[in-house]
Amino acid sequence: MKGSWNSTTIIIPFTLFSLIFLFISKCQDVFGVPTEHLCHPGQRDALLELKKEFEIKKPCSDGALPPKTESWANHSDCCYWEGITCNPKSGEVIELDLSRGCLQGRFHSNTSLFRVQNLPFLTTLDLSYNYFSGHIPSSIENFSHLTTLDLSKNYFSGGIPSSVGNLSHLTFLDLSGNEFVGEMPYFGNMNQLTNLNVDSNELTGTFPLPLLNLTMLSDLSLSRNQFTGTLPSKMSSLSNLEYFEAWGNAFTGTLPSSLFTIPSLTSIDLRNNQLNGVLDFGNISSPSSTLTVLDISNNNFIGPIPRSISNFINLQDLDLSYLNTQGPVDFSIFMNLKSLLLLNLSHLNTTTTIDLNALLSSHLNSIYSVDLSGNHVSATTKTPVADHHQLISQLYLSGCGITEFPELLRSQVNITNLDISNNKIKGQVPGWLWTLPNLIFVDLSNNTFSGFERPTELGPSFITTKPSMQYLVASKNNFTGNIPSSICALRSLITLDLSDNNLNGSIPHCMGNLKSTLSFLNLRHNRLGGGLPKNIFKSLRSLDVGHNQLVGKLPRSFIHLSTLEVLNVENNRLNDTFPSWLSSLKKLQVLVLRSNAFHGPIHHASFRTLRIIDLSRNHFSGTLPSNYFVNWNAMSSLGGNEDPSSKENYLGDSFRYYHDSMVLTNKGVEMELVRILKIYTALDFSENKFEGEIPRSIGLLKELHVLNLSSNDFTGHIPSSMGNLRELESLDVSQNKLSGEIPQELGNLSYLAYMNFSFNQLGGLLPGGTQFRRQKCSSFGDNLGLYGPSLDEVCVDIHASTPQEHEQPESEEEEKEMFSWIAAAIGLGPGIAFGLTIGYILVCYKPEWFMNHFQRNKHRSRRRRSTTKLKKEPN
Ligand SMILES: *[C@@H]1O[C@H](CO)[C@@H](O)[C@H](O)[C@H]1NC(C)=O
Ligand SMILES: *[C@@H]1O[C@H](CO)[C@@H](O)[C@H](O)[C@H]1NC(C)=O
Ligand SMILES: *[C@@H]1O[C@H](CO)[C@@H](O)[C@H](O)[C@H]1NC(C)=O
Ligand SMILES: *[C@@H]1O[C@H](CO)[C@@H](O)[C@H](O)[C@H]1NC(C)=O
Ligand SMILES: *[C@@H]1O[C@H](CO)[C@@H](O)[C@H](O)[C@H]1NC(C)=O
Ligand SMILES: *[C@@H]1O[C@H](CO)[C@@H](O)[C@H](O)[C@H]1NC(C)=O
Ligand SMILES: *[C@@H]1O[C@H](CO)[C@@H](O)[C@H](O)[C@H]1NC(C)=O
Ligand SMILES: *[C@@H]1O[C@H](CO)[C@@H](O)[C@H](O)[C@H]1NC(C)=O
Ligand SMILES: *[C@@H]1O[C@H](CO)[C@@H](O)[C@H](O)[C@H]1NC(C)=O
Ligand SMILES: *[C@@H]1O[C@H](CO)[C@@H](O)[C@H](O)[C@H]1NC(C)=O
Repeated sequence: MKGSWNSTTIIIPFTLFSLIFLFISKCQDVFGVPTEHLCHPGQRDALLELKKEFEIKKPCSDGALPPKTESWANHSDCCYWEGITCNPKSGEVIELDLSRGCLQGRFHSNTSLFRVQNLPFLTTLDLSYNYFSGHIPSSIENFSHLTTLDLSKNYFSGGIPSSVGNLSHLTFLDLSGNEFVGEMPYFGNMNQLTNLNVDSNELTGTFPLPLLNLTMLSDLSLSRNQFTGTLPSKMSSLSNLEYFEAWGNAFTGTLPSSLFTIPSLTSIDLRNNQLNGVLDFGNISSPSSTLTVLDISNNNFIGPIPRSISNFINLQDLDLSYLNTQGPVDFSIFMNLKSLLLLNLSHLNTTTTIDLNALLSSHLNSIYSVDLSGNHVSATTKTPVADHHQLISQLYLSGCGITEFPELLRSQVNITNLDISNNKIKGQVPGWLWTLPNLIFVDLSNNTFSGFERPTELGPSFITTKPSMQYLVASKNNFTGNIPSSICALRSLITLDLSDNNLNGSIPHCMGNLKSTLSFLNLRHNRLGGGLPKNIFKSLRSLDVGHNQLVGKLPRSFIHLSTLEVLNVENNRLNDTFPSWLSSLKKLQVLVLRSNAFHGPIHHASFRTLRIIDLSRNHFSGTLPSNYFVNWNAMSSLGGNEDPSSKENYLGDSFRYYHDSMVLTNKGVEMELVRILKIYTALDFSENKFEGEIPRSIGLLKELHVLNLSSNDFTGHIPSSMGNLRELESLDVSQNKLSGEIPQELGNLSYLAYMNFSFNQLGGLLPGGTQFRRQKCSSFGDNLGLYGPSLDEVCVDIHASTPQEHEQPESEEEEKEMFSWIAAAIGLGPGIAFGLTIGYILVCYKPEWFMNHFQRNKHRSRRRRSTTKLKKEPN
């Protein structure tokens, strides 16, 4: 009894307190902010409608934060929603900031956002970093109070509406990183504008002259568009300009010297244009200037560097690379520039030899990075190293005609990046190089080094601290003997490239020490023997040991290489069964077993992530079940394992220090892919002993570019499902025992530039279609009885003496053909472009092989003609 009374005395005050608390919190509006919502219901509804109109993209790269619009809900005050700012008095929404909102959707003429009557007092509209697409409606001009408009980093397309130019209160306009096309509209009325950025679109036309009236402009970026024509000669009206960027266009003409009279100018970046003529900075008499960045590299300037450059005493970043000086350069003119951090003077085509010692003895006290590549550099020190020596971090001396390893680098204890590739340095790589404590990146490739000097003077720092080296590229030298085990001491290595040397012996087991970091290992084109090491490479992304003399099996421990993307063991003597167990590697994209002694059946395996598989020139045998390719997802549809954040087009490391390569038979020619496009797909099972039918499931590999099944014992019909391989460029099924007809569906494959059906038992009507008419006659040779108009056309060269046949197209049919020809040519656009891309990155591997092949084919086509004609008669 007592006890319960006691508990009531506790409960009552507690409840009372809660009620009071509840009352206070309920009525907080009364005490704090006004009772009625600040937000106008009409504006709230408009915003909710807007929210409904766009999807939230999932996953979204800024996924760490919940998307802003998630906080938007009816029954709460819109002025407190994330991204919304209201006028504190009127309650009107004045700022809408949806940046990085993960929003996705297509804008159209009546997108609710642009119904201006909904949000008439908007001063700031920020839609940047979303996934919006479509056109900007011209009604945007009715947001007449806007001072800030940021539509950057979306997928907006079409023209920039001219009505944007009516927003005369704008101070900040950012349209960068979209897909806007056409010319820039008239912006001459926006005289409050301080920031204008149209970077990274597809804008065309000449420099928009009305911009010269925008005297408040301080930040102007036109970079990465397709602007042409000259820069205006009188730019000094932009009297408040600080940052002028127009790099990556096609501007021509001279560099306007009027730019340099603008007193506020801080940064000029005009690299990668076609500016020409002689450099002239105008009349900069006194050494005073706010200019800190001057990048005019990769243009077509000719002639001397004006001495007046030495007046830009505040320059921190100077890039004059590819300035065609065509004569001597006095390098002392740079020695006044005491604020320099980055100096790029590469490829100046100068007759002057640069004295590295003099540069390093200078008083450029802040210098951090120097690039002298492509000039003649003298790096020898006849005199003892000067007592004063500038310490730099990055030194690029590629292609400088250097013949001895520069001894003066020995004292460069701060150096992190050293590129000394493409020189003529002989002998040993000095041992002291490894003792430089901060070295991260070393490129020694394309010299004639013969060995690594033993690092005798390994200081205590080398032993006790983690060695810093991460990238060691030593390819294309004359290294002989074993791979030095001292490499194993470089425990931070990420990339090791010793390809194209004369190394022999086996791959050292001590490389197991590198297992925690090593990601790219390239030992291609050496004379290495023995087996592949078993104990190593836990974080490997790419292993290339092609073109060696390795024996034995693929170590089963490779099953733990969970990050492996590329495995290339081509041209060795590996003798193993098919490694179907590799299908458990979730990242594997490229598997090349070409030219080894692999044998036996290729068991059912689903390589979900593989895009390139080359099993050619082995001893694989057996049949392939018809569903063999059912789960090969990456070849069936792109995008499955693409990394959207990666802008890099080729396989390799993200710093572009390393690119994967491989040999591939494409379009009947064996070639070396020096880089592998990430979207490239190929399947090569040629020159094995596969038998039975070609699996029908091959038709699922819709993204396949190259298919080679030649020189096997495949029988039966060519599956008509191959007609689904709409990306196919090269198809080779020659030298099998295929029978029946060539499926008519193949006639629709518009990218199929090369095909080879020869040496089979095929018969029947050859498909029509442009691509079939473009083949060489020999592609169909040595079959049982192919016939048809396409064949007559491709084999026309054989009865070449009747040219009139060609000149007199008569029937409607011919006209139709012409039409389909044109249509196909249009359809072919991307295919051609792709072919060109590949062509650009291909190095013809064995041209003489190509010639022989070509001549052999010519013979065959002669032989085949009569059978074709004969078989045509019964029709
Ligand atoms: C929000 O709520 C109000 C009243 O509760 C209603 O009139 C309005 O239609 C709602 N708006 C939306 C977009 O649901
Ligand atoms: C514009 O909006 C109206 C009503 O909201 C709709 O019926 C119409 O289809 C829209 N027009 C376009 C082009 O989307
Ligand atoms: C701008 O608003 C006016 C009236 O407020 C309207 O007549 C005009 O069509 C609007 N402009 C555009 C491009 O929608
Ligand atoms: C926009 O500018 C054009 C002329 O450049 C003018 O005809 C039009 O009325 C302007 N629109 C507004 C809303 O000011
Ligand atoms: C600059 O403005 C003046 C008047 O303020 C005008 O006469 C001139 O045409 C404008 N120039 C350009 C290129 O728009
Ligand atoms: C380099 O300069 C020489 C004159 O010194 C000139 O003949 C040559 O064409 C220039 N090279 C290039 C690539 O412009
Ligand atoms: C060299 O590196 C050390 C430490 O890494 C740093 O304190 C020093 O400022 C650097 N010297 C120069 C000239 O960059
Ligand atoms: C190797 O360097 C030389 C200059 O020493 C250059 O001419 C050659 O093109 C380079 N070879 C490769 C493959 O880069
Ligand atoms: C490469 O090394 C071998 C053996 O050490 C030598 O005979 C050959 O001349 C070297 N080649 C070059 C280009 O230095
Ligand atoms: C592969 O190894 C087996 C023995 O394991 C041997 O019989 C066969 O001849 C080898 N094949 C080749 C091509 O060396």
